[in-house]
Amino acid sequence: MIITGQLVRIDRSSNVAESQRGSAEQRNAVRIIPGYLRIEGNRIAEVVEGEISERADLGGPDYLICPGFIDTHLHLPQFDMIGSHGLPLLQWLDEVTFPSERRWEDPDYARTMTNRVIDQCFAHGTTSICAYATVHHSGAVAALEVAQQRNVRGVIGQVLMDRQAPDYLLRPAQLQIDETRRLLDRFPPGASLAAAVTPRFAVSCTGELMNAAGELAKERDAVIQTHLAETLQECDLVQNLFGGVSYTDLYRDAGLLTPRSIFGHGIYLDSSDCKKIADADSIIAHCPTANSFLRSGTMNRAALLQSSVKLALGSDIGAGYERSMIRVARAMIEAASSLGESFPSAAEALWQITHGNALALGWPDRDRFSSDEQADVLVIQPNVVWLYGEVDPLSKLMFSWDDRWLKTTIVAGEASYSST
Ligand code: GUN
Ligand code: ZN
Repeated sequence: MIITGQLVRIDRSSNVAESQRGSAEQRNAVRIIPGYLRIEGNRIAEVVEGEISERADLGGPDYLICPGFIDTHLHLPQFDMIGSHGLPLLQWLDEVTFPSERRWEDPDYARTMTNRVIDQCFAHGTTSICAYATVHHSGAVAALEVAQQRNVRGVIGQVLMDRQAPDYLLRPAQLQIDETRRLLDRFPPGASLAAAVTPRFAVSCTGELMNAAGELAKERDAVIQTHLAETLQECDLVQNLFGGVSYTDLYRDAGLLTPRSIFGHGIYLDSSDCKKIADADSIIAHCPTANSFLRSGTMNRAALLQSSVKLALGSDIGAGYERSMIRVARAMIEAASSLGESFPSAAEALWQITHGNALALGWPDRDRFSSDEQADVLVIQPNVVWLYGEVDPLSKLMFSWDDRWLKTTIVAGEASYSST
């Protein structure tokens, strides 16, 4: 298959840490260049720059050809509860989220729902995810099986909780750890789709559960996903539950502060927290749409970058209400602008949802349009004149984005979504 158009290419830095933390120029290393991709099987076989192919199966001179987007923080079981507006985090969890997650006690429900969710991800250009399932082991297995069948890359974790949630979601700590170990056996770290160790957050985990989670993640070199410092009320509760220990120290002491750790939110972190997170090479998944939806606060992106914290970006569905990573990227620009701090350019935002988030997942630091990469490709036809004009083309695409522009989502070489 040949796909032609304006290719989004990344001028990669030779150094992963540098490109996450480096100068704006490094993060702005996104080029648009006419060219084409030749796809064979599930891989990119050839990348040609400088000419629009006459023999193309998809695309054309005014199409944008982009790597699939990566969403580094979302909750699969929460897609049907998007939009429950007005409640702060802890009340939203109790009244909306936990009852909704209960449905995943039926693995058939989890399987069908995961298929529906993946349809929605593909229809918005997301081909790779870092996702939470629920506490239910067979539901998490079903989600991983479906995602694997559909060639989604990334991680999915069974949520770990042993307190501060309704009884119907609580299970003994050791049982949950054993279940996660079995998941890691079946979907080992390093595979294109792997299980992750996923303690929900310190509020709903005892020290015993967090310590065991930290040990298991270390033993298997697994990705760790959890939430950190999303609201002030949550931070106070953590202090009360753990005798005043700082939230970040708590995670560090449990072995959860690792280069493979992805912490959702990270709004209420002081400079010493940031230093610990940066020193550990852990990642904060910024979730701007969820932060505004739950009125949790605005993460100070510039301050975190200044402290050398690695950042990723996530939709955090269902607290986040945008399925499209372009819209989440736009929210990131707007959140930073609202603080009056330096804000990311459209190029940096596009870099984040493609290359930047790939680095957070530990993928090699190379252009996703390189030969032998899995062919996850978006064929986008903007219905505005975007290439020729006074406005920066990427800025125009970001801010005039219309979901209907996405014509085809190729996942592992197959057209997995096409608009009619
Ligand atoms: N903190 C603990 N669980 C959750 C969740 O499901 N969503 C969000 N936004 N924050 C959380
Ligand atoms: Zn979340």
